[in-house]
Amino acid sequence: MGKKLKILLASPEVHPFAKTGGLADMAGSLPRALSNLGHDVRVIMPYYKCVSGGNREIRPASAHIDVPLGPVRQRGWLFEGRLDGGLPVYLVNHQAYYYRDQLYGENGRDYHDNAERFIFFSRSILEACKALSFRPDIIHCHDWQTGLVPAYLRTLYAGDDFFRNTRSVFTVHNLGYQGNFPSFYLQAANLPWELFTPEGVELYGHFSFLKTGLVFGDVLTTVSPSYGKEILDPEFGFGLDGVLRKRDQDLFGVLNGADYREWDPARDPLIKKNYGPGSLAGKIACKKDLIRKFSLKVDERAPIVSMVTRLSYQKGIDLVMEGADALLKSGAAFVLLGSGDPAYQDFFVALSKRRRDRCACLIGFDEESAHQIMAGSDILLMPSFYEPCGLTQIYGLKYGAVPLVRAVGGLRDTVQEFNPGTGKGAGFKFKPFETKQMLKAARKALAVYKDKDLWRRLLVNGMSKDYSWDQSAARYCGLYLKALRKPARAGI
Ligand code: ADP
Ligand code: GLC
Repeated sequence: MGKKLKILLASPEVHPFAKTGGLADMAGSLPRALSNLGHDVRVIMPYYKCVSGGNREIRPASAHIDVPLGPVRQRGWLFEGRLDGGLPVYLVNHQAYYYRDQLYGENGRDYHDNAERFIFFSRSILEACKALSFRPDIIHCHDWQTGLVPAYLRTLYAGDDFFRNTRSVFTVHNLGYQGNFPSFYLQAANLPWELFTPEGVELYGHFSFLKTGLVFGDVLTTVSPSYGKEILDPEFGFGLDGVLRKRDQDLFGVLNGADYREWDPARDPLIKKNYGPGSLAGKIACKKDLIRKFSLKVDERAPIVSMVTRLSYQKGIDLVMEGADALLKSGAAFVLLGSGDPAYQDFFVALSKRRRDRCACLIGFDEESAHQIMAGSDILLMPSFYEPCGLTQIYGLKYGAVPLVRAVGGLRDTVQEFNPGTGKGAGFKFKPFETKQMLKAARKALAVYKDKDLWRRLLVNGMSKDYSWDQSAARYCGLYLKALRKPARAGI
């Protein structure tokens, strides 16, 4: 190994402390992979209410921090938990900001003070380093909630000797979530007005936290090679494609890894019976268990199509709504676990009441059910409009829930189309974002399902795929070194 790096990974969510989606999985598993490569890795996140609800040991760490917020100072307290394997996770405690039922909002609406909550978090990250005397080589920031950190390093802290050798890597997990707020929040962030320009942090009249990260991050990454290219295009760039094109030389698409200690049917404690490519009997037991759990009126010979998803436009829910009846008519059962947009939730609740026999939906966020659905279903549907990486289909491959996906972003990079002639491939894909294309791919999948031997071949292909972190973690290390080669700078 080369130089041992000190890395602080800053994320608004980290599994198993707090999770709304794949970012938490990534932020909870990359640190261990980096640590296995010999680096000193620590993690920092807000101390939400759900963190206290978990059964992990949390203890106070160091003293308080006083964080400037506009003209005042807000006091935060640092706590420390551990990831499995012992890596420290610093938790920034501020009751009024984080002690709430959800992470970012409730009933489909963002919390009104999210700008303030994440200005405080971003600034806390730097103050925490000092309070803990942890002088990181790299602060690896994730998504808009940490977007101000790279800017702080190059403005308010640019002359600070403590951070002289610190560089930032900014990873964008989803261009659709930008953290755009009224310009007066620049004052709360203590950032100079001169930055409020199209070359700086302004995006269509707003102060954009995501854009701030993209402008100031020393190295930028996103979570799959295909998405890394797609976002250079207006179709997927969400108004930031110009900024990204400008930074093309510093932007890299690194595929997320899966944590197979959590997501492997051979040792998953949350499922009915363990199984693997050489012992598929356990999968039938899991399927029967799923049928029982959701009171479906089908037997285990019927194909079960499933979704485990945030209910947002991104995930192609509109296609599923339009195609659901046709799918059910073709003989499949359908199970959905999801939460999000209330209109989507209502639709699936109504559908499952109308087709109680072969359709079930569970609205909410439930880790255990997510594992059980992966284990008990045959086809995992992900017709996303766009998908930066997608971890769900990677888990689906491992669990023999064959991914049926739209060929975009990380879905395109991780799912190879099954060819019944050669027996190669592990899933089914379609391209145009149209219900009839999704149903055509579903018909293909269901035809293969009827041929037991061919289906087994397909399952084994997927279950044997390895998307663990090793390669991608090494790739991140290379990018950290690239960031460290950048000269110390102030300003844009
Ligand atoms: P995204 O981050 O866009 O939501 P990913 O596929 O990368 O999509 O990751 C989703 C993660 O969140 C997976 O771990 C998946 O199991 C989990 N997940 C999504 N919705 C739910 C839910 N309703 N209940 C439990 N887990 C969920
Ligand atoms: C985002 C993306 C998803 C990705 C996850 C983790 O939530 O929507 O595609 O897998 O981040 O990087």
